[in-house]
Amino acid sequence: MNTLAIETKDLKKTYDGKIYAVDGIDLQVEKNTVLALLGPNGAGKTTTISMLVTLITPSSGQAKILGYDLTKDSKNIRKKIGVTFQEMAIDDQLTGQQVLEIHGKLYGMKGSELKSAVDEIFDLIELQEVRNKKVKSYSGGMKRRLELGRALLTKPEILFLDEPTLGVDVQTRAKIWDYIIKLKKEYGMTIILTTHYMDEAQSLADKVEIIDHGKIITQGTVEELIESLGSDIIKLEISGDSASLVKKLKALDFVDQVTSHDGWIQVGVDNSDTRVVPLIQSVIQQGYSISNLNIKKPSLGEVFFKYTGRELRE
Ligand SMILES: Nc1ncnc2c1ncn2[C@@H]1O[C@H](COP(=O)(O)OP(=O)(O)OP(=O)(O)O)[C@@H](O)[C@H]1O
Ligand SMILES: [Mg+2]
Repeated sequence: MNTLAIETKDLKKTYDGKIYAVDGIDLQVEKNTVLALLGPNGAGKTTTISMLVTLITPSSGQAKILGYDLTKDSKNIRKKIGVTFQEMAIDDQLTGQQVLEIHGKLYGMKGSELKSAVDEIFDLIELQEVRNKKVKSYSGGMKRRLELGRALLTKPEILFLDEPTLGVDVQTRAKIWDYIIKLKKEYGMTIILTTHYMDEAQSLADKVEIIDHGKIITQGTVEELIESLGSDIIKLEISGDSASLVKKLKALDFVDQVTSHDGWIQVGVDNSDTRVVPLIQSVIQQGYSISNLNIKKPSLGEVFFKYTGRELRE
């Protein structure tokens, strides 16, 4: 049995034949897992999702969704997936109840089947009390939850969420995270989400693909990605050319890895508590001055910095 929900090979999208919004993406998504596409603005996350949900046509490459070919079997794919978009896509003159009913009918649901599915969704997204009010009276977080509910109404096998918590308050964020965990556990769903919040990827994802400029720059479980950095991170801002300093630091026995970008040097060490002083000493010994220093337990942000030289959230 195929255990992959999604498989893509060298998937690309260009709008002008020159610049690639998505520039050769290979994905393998196991069923019943949560995959996060993590990357800064313009990385190509929405474009990737839009291709996978059959909204836009790839310029080249292949993709299979639940065994169906993306370009040939888009009808079958659409029946088995649910999507929420980055931009709000709900007619706010309708009531929440109407939004779900119309959506269900579009998918051929009716009668008691539709009624009980709608009931179940309002329970899940905790909007029973406002289901007969117009969507325009909902808060941003309530609208997000309604969109999520709409995507879930048809019990999709794969759920695509493009920036599910963008612009929502902390409590709604926590709720949406809870739903996502529940959907995976209780409904066996496969979930693909995009985010530029690393804590979101860190809390939810079984696997993370960090993407930038249309390409996957690294991937793995959160633990794998973080372990690849060594245990703690010390970041130093220094003046002057860092190349020779990087070499010297790499030679120190307690240093795991060193990367430098734009005057910042990122050093992975086994234990920052005991290593920060000797590290500073050896930087100063090399004739450099330190204008800024911070110590971090590594997170996906440091992984991103290592590969791109930029912060994830700019
Ligand atoms: N319809 C379009 N025509 C031309 N260029 C486009 C189009 N849609 C997207 N792009 C470009 O493709 C690149 C990737 O955009 P995309 O929306 O996929 O990024 P993203 O990772 O979702 O970013 P964000 O975090 O801001 O949502 C960007 O440079 C964008 O300007
Ligand atoms: Mg986007």
